[in-house]
Amino acid sequence: MRIFVTGGAGYIGSHFCVAALQAGHDVVVFDNFCNSDPGVPSRIARIARRPCSVVTGDVRRKQDISNALRSAQPDLVVHLAGLKAVGDSVARPLDYFETNVGGTACLLEAMKEHGVHRLIFSSSATVYGQPVELPLKESHPLNPTNPYGRSKLMAEWLCDDFQRAEGNVSIVVLRYFNPVGAHPSGGIGDDPVGVPNNLMPFVTQVASGQRERLHIFGTDYPTPDGTGVRDYLHVCDLAEGHLAAISRSDTPGFVTVNLGTGTGYSVLDVVRTFERETGRAIPVAYGKRREGDLAQYYADPARALHLLNWRARRDLGEMCRDAWAWQRGSSTE
Ligand code: NAD
Ligand code: UFG
Repeated sequence: MRIFVTGGAGYIGSHFCVAALQAGHDVVVFDNFCNSDPGVPSRIARIARRPCSVVTGDVRRKQDISNALRSAQPDLVVHLAGLKAVGDSVARPLDYFETNVGGTACLLEAMKEHGVHRLIFSSSATVYGQPVELPLKESHPLNPTNPYGRSKLMAEWLCDDFQRAEGNVSIVVLRYFNPVGAHPSGGIGDDPVGVPNNLMPFVTQVASGQRERLHIFGTDYPTPDGTGVRDYLHVCDLAEGHLAAISRSDTPGFVTVNLGTGTGYSVLDVVRTFERETGRAIPVAYGKRREGDLAQYYADPARALHLLNWRARRDLGEMCRDAWAWQRGSSTE
């Protein structure tokens, strides 16, 4: 298949592109590189031992995406381009709606114009908001608590309404839980700009000596050890989840699918596993809760198994080892 990947140079997109190339698909990366390095596509090609095409463009610009689809003529689009930082979305909500909702609208319009009928859309478990019931099933009420989450939910609605109107379109919405880790080659990985917001990149930077200690946000949550619990999944499992969605997205319709392991780990579980797997000490400081954080959430991954025949295979140890291999490689470059 010929797959058009918006945001293909980003953290998740680059891992998906490697998996797709290795599975024999042709890949066209469409990215404006606002949060990724233009050198990533050549890293992807080096790991996969096959080249991918690259188009520099912006999903908010209808003409960019329309021109790119006209020349690429893909069988399917994987739409990962977006803005993703919760705190940033509170500070500049309009940018989030413009990129995550407006960009998705431009893409759908261009797909219609060029007769592309299949879409895989990157959504987030954040659309569920405060859990009413755990594990989170796809039927759980949707009540995101920040502009980023609301922009993702609006983009899901756009996809749903577009599918109903067009009829002959297939859209699979993947709701990711907490992707971590990196490709085992150490050639691509999460590369946040500035101070990392997310746990795993912060931990790896403490391990490498770039930061003194990890600040643990909250020790009084109603969880077994008092720290926040999340469903961490290896980014390579996530990439394979997209391939599974592609091979089962040939019938028209709209469906939402959780991609998670189904197991929750606390912040302290992550720290201890990381220390055990890498032999590096992670000094910690216990602090207050981070505003807006939830105590715990983890997926019910049953629909992914049933519909896509996919389940996460890599454990927390592998996530830590691969995150560390990437950090070590990128800090000695
Ligand atoms: P990322 O920032 O590493 O990758 C996003 C890519 O999209 C980047 O390469 C960026 O340059 C590109 N991009 C952004 N705006 C663009 C625009 N207007 N036009 C063209 N390209 C643009 O993020 P990621 O972690 O790889 O996330 C990918 C997708 O998955 C996002 O849509 C995100 O919301 C979603 N998601 C991520 C997580 C996570 O924890 N990483 C969790 C749930 C959902
Ligand atoms: N944490 C710390 N210290 C840190 C960073 C995080 O203790 O320096 C804790 C958090 O309090 C939380 C856990 O580690 O308990 C995980 O935090 P992350 O920031 O890694 O992940 P979140 O679950 O808070 O958020 C992530 C993405 C969001 C997305 C959400 C759901 O950052 O964009 O998952 O998919 F919306």
